[in-house]
Amino acid sequence: MSPATGFTGMWRDLLPLGRDTRSGGYRRFAWTPADTETRDWFRQQAADRELTYEEDRNGNQWAWLGDPRGEGAVVTGSHLDSVPDGGAFDGPLGVVSAFAALDELRERGARPARPLAVTNFADEEGARFGLACVGSRLSAGALTKEAAYALRDAEGISLPRAMEAAGHDPETIGADPERLARISAYVELHVEQGRALDLTGDPVGIASAIWPHGRWRFDFRGEGNHAGTTRLADRHDPMLPYAETVLAARREAALAQAVATFGKIAVVPGGVNAIPSLVRGWLDSRAADQTTLDSVVTAIEGAAREAAAREGVDLDVVRESFTPVVEFGHALRTELGKVLGRQSEGRAVPVLPTGAGHDAGILSAAVPTAMLFVRNPTGVSHAPAEHADEADCLAGVTALADVLEELACR
Ligand code: GLV
Ligand code: MN
Ligand code: MN
Repeated sequence: MSPATGFTGMWRDLLPLGRDTRSGGYRRFAWTPADTETRDWFRQQAADRELTYEEDRNGNQWAWLGDPRGEGAVVTGSHLDSVPDGGAFDGPLGVVSAFAALDELRERGARPARPLAVTNFADEEGARFGLACVGSRLSAGALTKEAAYALRDAEGISLPRAMEAAGHDPETIGADPERLARISAYVELHVEQGRALDLTGDPVGIASAIWPHGRWRFDFRGEGNHAGTTRLADRHDPMLPYAETVLAARREAALAQAVATFGKIAVVPGGVNAIPSLVRGWLDSRAADQTTLDSVVTAIEGAAREAAAREGVDLDVVRESFTPVVEFGHALRTELGKVLGRQSEGRAVPVLPTGAGHDAGILSAAVPTAMLFVRNPTGVSHAPAEHADEADCLAGVTALADVLEELACR
C-alpha cells in the first residue's frame, strides 16, 4: 500500500484536486478534468488495497472487497464532485472514511461474510447539468436515459458528450436493478450541514429523514433597451419582478419554517448599460413535508406572477427536479443506533433530519439505506469554510467501521 492510505494521507492527497486557489473552494464538476483527477484518485485507492475496481454503466465507481457479483453486499461511500466553490468535506469525507473504515476492519482482523464495497456516485451535486444525484438517479431508475441525454451544461454540452469526453461510454446508462438488488445495505457517511451535533456535543449522529426538495427555473422575459435613454414608464424590466420574487421567497419560507433560495441567476444580455431582456433565476426550496413545500412554492410563484404582470413581463416557471421526502428505514437506523450506542457507552446517539439531498436518499427507493453525520462545528457547507475536526472525522471512521463490521461480518 502507498503511504497515503491512512485517513490523513488520503485526505492530504485529495485536498489539492480541483481547488480554486483564489476562493479556496472546490470546482469538481461532473466529467471535467478536475472530476477525472478525483476519479483517478479513487481508482488508485482501490488498487492500493487490491480491491476489485469497476465503473458501472452510469459512471459510478466501485471498489470491492469480495465478489462484486455476490449477494447481500454492504456498500458505503458518497461522492467526490462539488458545488461551485464547495467545501472539502461534502462528499469526499464519506469516500475517504469508507476506505479508512475498510482499512480499520482489516486491522481488526474482521472477516466479511458478504461483499463490501466503497462507492463514488457520479455527479451528486448537479453543479454542471442542473440535476443533482444523476449517477444514483440513473441506477435507481429515477432518471431515464432520454431525460439524461437532454441535460446540457451552460456551454450547451450534453451530458452524454461530456461523459464520452471523460472516457465513459454513455450508451449504456440507465436503470441498474440487478446491481442494486445485490445490495443489502448502503450506508453513507457525510459531514453534517448544520449545527445540530455541535449543539448536542456529539461527534457522530444518525440521519432520520431528508426533507423533500426541488429546483424551479423562473424565466422573466421583458424588453431589452437602453439603460440611459428609456423612460422608467416605458420599461418592461424583468429584473424588477425577479427582485420581488427573491423577497417573496424569503418571506414565504420564513412563514412556513421552510427554506427557499435563489442562488443562481442568468441575465441576458448582461450589460451594465442595458435593461435586460431576460432574467432567469433558479429557486431551491425545501421543507419538512410535501404539503408545506407545495404551498411555499405556490405562494412564491403567485407573487412572481403578480409582480411580472405589473411590469408587463412574461413569466415561465419550470420544475427542473424534485425529490420527495425520504424516511430512513427504521430497522437499519435502529441497528446503527445500537452499534453506535455501544461506542458512546450507552449515551443515545442523536438522530436528526437534514435539508440536504444525498445519493442515499435516492437509493432508498431500491435499497435499505442509512446515513451517519460527522459534526461540523460551524454548520457551514457548500462554501469553502466547511469544516470538521480531524478527531471527529476519525470518530466517524470508527463508527462506520463498527457499522460495517456489524452488517457485513456477523
Ligand atoms: C446537495 O448537497 C443538496 O442538498 O443540494
Ligand atoms: Mn452537497
Ligand atoms: Mn454531499
